[in-house]
Amino acid sequence: MASGAPINNDVFLRACRGLPVDRVPVWFMRQAGRSLPEYHKMRGEGSMLETIARPEVATEITLQPVRRYGVDAAILYSDIVVPTHAIGFGVDIVPGVGPVVEYPFREARDLDRLRPLDPETDTPHVLETVRNLVAELDVPLIAFAGAPFTMASYLVEGGPSRTHALTKRLMHGEPDLWIALLDRLADLAIASIGSQLDAGASAFQLFDSWAGALAPDEYRQFVLPASQRIFAELGGRGDGVPGIHFGVGTGELLELLAKAGADVVGVDWRVHLDDARERLGPDVAVQGNLDPAAVLAPWSVVAERAIDVLDRNAGQPGHVFNLGHGVLPETDPETLERVVELVHGYKATP
Ligand code: CP3
Repeated sequence: MASGAPINNDVFLRACRGLPVDRVPVWFMRQAGRSLPEYHKMRGEGSMLETIARPEVATEITLQPVRRYGVDAAILYSDIVVPTHAIGFGVDIVPGVGPVVEYPFREARDLDRLRPLDPETDTPHVLETVRNLVAELDVPLIAFAGAPFTMASYLVEGGPSRTHALTKRLMHGEPDLWIALLDRLADLAIASIGSQLDAGASAFQLFDSWAGALAPDEYRQFVLPASQRIFAELGGRGDGVPGIHFGVGTGELLELLAKAGADVVGVDWRVHLDDARERLGPDVAVQGNLDPAAVLAPWSVVAERAIDVLDRNAGQPGHVFNLGHGVLPETDPETLERVVELVHGYKATP
């Protein structure tokens, strides 16, 4: 691991490992971004990919929520499409839409467009940002990548999809090609996360945001092997870096997300945290799961809902407080400040 400033606040890493903590750690998915006025100021116009490619700007944007909220972890300002963009697949991020692919993945020869990632030459700016951050932060930095299924969905559909119809058609209709595609995408995730860890990040999150579109049998057969290889290879580095596995609408997949090899499973707001813990057993930590839309409600409601999440964990080790999905752009940053205060001040009733 690259050397940086010492991580003075390791409560997040301890919780990921299921160790006792003196307070529950908290960070927010999409904590950097459009809910922050200081983000809009830094970001300006143009493609988000250009902003990510400027290390001094990406560093500052990553630090903004850490300063403002006092969260216990930073997450790199980047995006899940950065590796595929860097190898020239032809993807951009359209504001208000998300990732858009000019020539979607359709047939076997499209595999040639998914060459291996060489992080030092393809994404040097990302590594520079990570090194900058590690030198400045006194909380852990979370590395991340998109999981094979969620990436496949963007590449096959050509953009965001409600039904993932073309993706499932490929999965069921051409299973060999599907497996080859997911293999390439797993290689990209391993190379990308591995390089962020080499540069000094101290945990990682695999975002399989859209895995909830799959039935458990489909996930087990068509997705689990590729995601399992990611956790196995990154775990095989031997540096004990904790891995988080997250998806939305994945209540029926929680055990499988754990089986992929995660130390921490992200839980969305549709499942009570105590139910999630019961399904997952004592050896897996959980992350979540306040409804990001509930955060838009009056403070008394937000507080009640946040306390409910904490009470359902009942003071057990192995809980990282987060939202059930990313911060919505409409969110009042002041509410998130108060949520952090509330979580940090919480004591479980014995
Ligand atoms: O704070 C953080 O979480 C770190 C940065 C981060 C971004 N995207 C920044 C971003 C992370 C971890 C992601 C991951 C990501 N990107 C996921 C997985 C997480 C999830 O929400 O499920 C997904 C599915 C994407 C794809 C993507 N990129 C979407 C759906 C969008 C939103 C499009 C929109 O404008 O509504 C993006 C763009 C994006 N990624 C923004 C940010 C801050 C907004 C960019 C802008 O316009 O400035």
